[in-house]
Amino acid sequence: MTQKISVSDLCDIAPLTPHDVLTILDRAAFFKDALKNRTIPKTLAGKVVLTLFTENSTRTRNSFEMAVLRLGGSLMNWDEKISSAQKGETFSDTLHFLNGYQPDAMVMRHHEYNAPNYVAGIMDCPVINAGDSYREHPTQALLDAFTIRECKGRIDGSTVAIVGDLAHSRVANSNVALLTKMGARVHLIAPENLQPQKLPDGVVVFDTLEEGLKGCDVVMPLRIQKERMDASVIPNDTAYFHAYGLTLERLSYAKADAIVLHPAPMNRGVEIADEVADDPVRSVIFQQGANGVPVRMAVLDLLIGA
Ligand code: NCD
Repeated sequence: MTQKISVSDLCDIAPLTPHDVLTILDRAAFFKDALKNRTIPKTLAGKVVLTLFTENSTRTRNSFEMAVLRLGGSLMNWDEKISSAQKGETFSDTLHFLNGYQPDAMVMRHHEYNAPNYVAGIMDCPVINAGDSYREHPTQALLDAFTIRECKGRIDGSTVAIVGDLAHSRVANSNVALLTKMGARVHLIAPENLQPQKLPDGVVVFDTLEEGLKGCDVVMPLRIQKERMDASVIPNDTAYFHAYGLTLERLSYAKADAIVLHPAPMNRGVEIADEVADDPVRSVIFQQGANGVPVRMAVLDLLIGA
């Protein structure tokens, strides 16, 4: 089979070339049409995808499963809570045994930093990262980019604001990597204690929405990742909403036609007001969520499809 993208796993955004990203987004657009017209090629027929989720997931897990099933593939789940890890088996030993069953791909969400790259070093099949620790969530960034291109016609030359808990967000990390690779400008807006430690080129940090939203085409508020921080630095919900909550009035600092994305789960009344989340024109959050299926179909198809 000719290789369709230059990587054989999807653990991080960095190894993808801009051409790879466009190949994935174009394939996702093809699958979005195919889903609508019910003309889906069963390119995963006969393939078995192993899933492992050690952290909570609703959208990512269900959209990956839907993607596999729509492409005619089958799923096998490694349920860590009832696996032999509870009987003292090492993670590495379990991996070696499951690798022996020869799954065609593995989709994994893991609480440990960089676990997908470790797993990819053991498994013979492609490994797809569905989010690890606060490090990376590449398919989320791809579906966000797909939604931006779908709504705005382009990614390059756009200005995207990401607001909120940038210090603990794998969504922010993968989005910054992907958007800057594709020629977008990124404004990161957060209180000082939630700002990221490293900043790539093309990224500017602000500590107020008033300043940071100016000239933005896309605004993406993020949930405070309370489960990833020390209790002493968790902001008070009401005070946070007062300073950083996205209301329609604040959205008016961005371009008049700016759209709002959110990876979800949304904490309404904390990082986003109901009036923004439910705005029929400005909010594309549910459309973005639905795009998780064709984008994940594209990734699976390009890595293991017939
Ligand atoms: C995100 C995640 O798990 O990183 N959710 C998702 O995958 N859509 C964001 C979050 O949990 O806040």
